[in-house]
Amino acid sequence: MKRVDDFRLRFGKQELVPIVIGGMGVDISTADLALEAARLGGIGHISDAMVQTVSDARFDTKFVSQKLKKYKANVASSDKSSVQFCLPTLEEATRNHVGKTMEAKRGDGMIFINCMEKLTMGAPRETLRMRLKAALDAGIDGITLSAGLHLGSFALIEDHPRFRDAKLGIIVSSPRALAMFLRKNARLNRLPDFIIVEGPLAGGHLGFGMDWAKYDLATIMGEVLTFLKNEHLDIPVIAAGGIFTGSDAAAFLEHGAAAVQVATRFTVTKECGLPDKVKQDYFVANEEDIEVNTISPTGYPMRMLKGSPGIGSGIRPNCEAYGYLLDANGRCAYIDAYNREVELHPGAKKVKVMDKTCLCTHMRNFDIWTCGHYTYRLKDTTLRQSDGSYQILSAEHVFHDYQFSTDQKIALPG
Ligand SMILES: Cc1cc2nc3c(=O)[nH]c(=O)nc-3n(C[C@H](O)[C@H](O)[C@H](O)COP(=O)(O)O)c2cc1C
Repeated sequence: MKRVDDFRLRFGKQELVPIVIGGMGVDISTADLALEAARLGGIGHISDAMVQTVSDARFDTKFVSQKLKKYKANVASSDKSSVQFCLPTLEEATRNHVGKTMEAKRGDGMIFINCMEKLTMGAPRETLRMRLKAALDAGIDGITLSAGLHLGSFALIEDHPRFRDAKLGIIVSSPRALAMFLRKNARLNRLPDFIIVEGPLAGGHLGFGMDWAKYDLATIMGEVLTFLKNEHLDIPVIAAGGIFTGSDAAAFLEHGAAAVQVATRFTVTKECGLPDKVKQDYFVANEEDIEVNTISPTGYPMRMLKGSPGIGSGIRPNCEAYGYLLDANGRCAYIDAYNREVELHPGAKKVKVMDKTCLCTHMRNFDIWTCGHYTYRLKDTTLRQSDGSYQILSAEHVFHDYQFSTDQKIALPG
């Protein structure tokens, strides 16, 4: 029986261990986690979600408070159209985050950045162009375009000197989305270097509707591989979503995947950015504690623990400080939901908003606990300690378990 280590992901002459740790915003996939993946010969992701907040936390910059100060007069207003990101600040924050991570890189692996199109930031094109440009300038090995169709994203950086040498790829959940992406970008004469196919059991936002349970990763992988073969395209395809053991991963590699992208198993490692208390919540979760709901203002379903403190919280929108989900007109579905509740409950000190959540604030505070479908199996990947808590793992331990295990076995920590 084959194991993951029998395979290699090839980019030209470069060979990598075919394990990619997926991007997890906001700073759940930290630089430390990505650096471990690269050191061990695979690919790690940082994320540029709420990058100004991340820069403040990592480098003691003051970008969030400066933005809040600039727009303070607008805090009580429901019209957020005047709130804009300062592009040079966004550039500096991205360069800090990417540049310092790349300086620390050791080993033969790579570090990519996860860029979500749904972070429309009040000016979708201008901010995305700056995010992509600054990441390339700061030396990122590759960019993974996610949470959106990204039909125009390659064009935003077509003049960048690294446009053809950095590894650029996209996450899709259907051959249809891939076909659209390829068609829209045909004139650039630049194919993606990799395609990540994410199935419905993944964490974070899902590229499916609420009928996600009707789909499965193996079938979509087969459809994408057939599509590429018919088009005579040779692009590495990476399978993601619900790959929990080394044997699960090896099975995808045997069926034509070039690598696997995994995330949930790394949420309980010491390098992961979630607070330790939340890691314990992930360990104790049972299957019935996990749901896919529609409270994300992005419009995509999202999987999370039902006990996430951010669910139902009716806090005032914090767009002056954050504002990452504001569209080109300064709108966000949470603002509308919040205003509706305030109008329905005049004079109330606090309102509850059940249908949407202020995702920026709650992801920033680690109060929305997004997770993969198999989070309820995490307790089987470690040891229970005498105080009842679960032992936090090292990223190296989990990475090696994926790389070397067979027979559906999961190695427990030593
Ligand atoms: C806590 C968490 C946060 C995530 N956040 C993001 C994100 O910000 N952007 C993204 O493209 N994918 C995100 N994902 C999806 C992962 O990158 C990955 O593709 C997927 O979870 C793999 O499936 P697995 O978790 O079952 O291994 C997230 C996953 C988790 C578990």
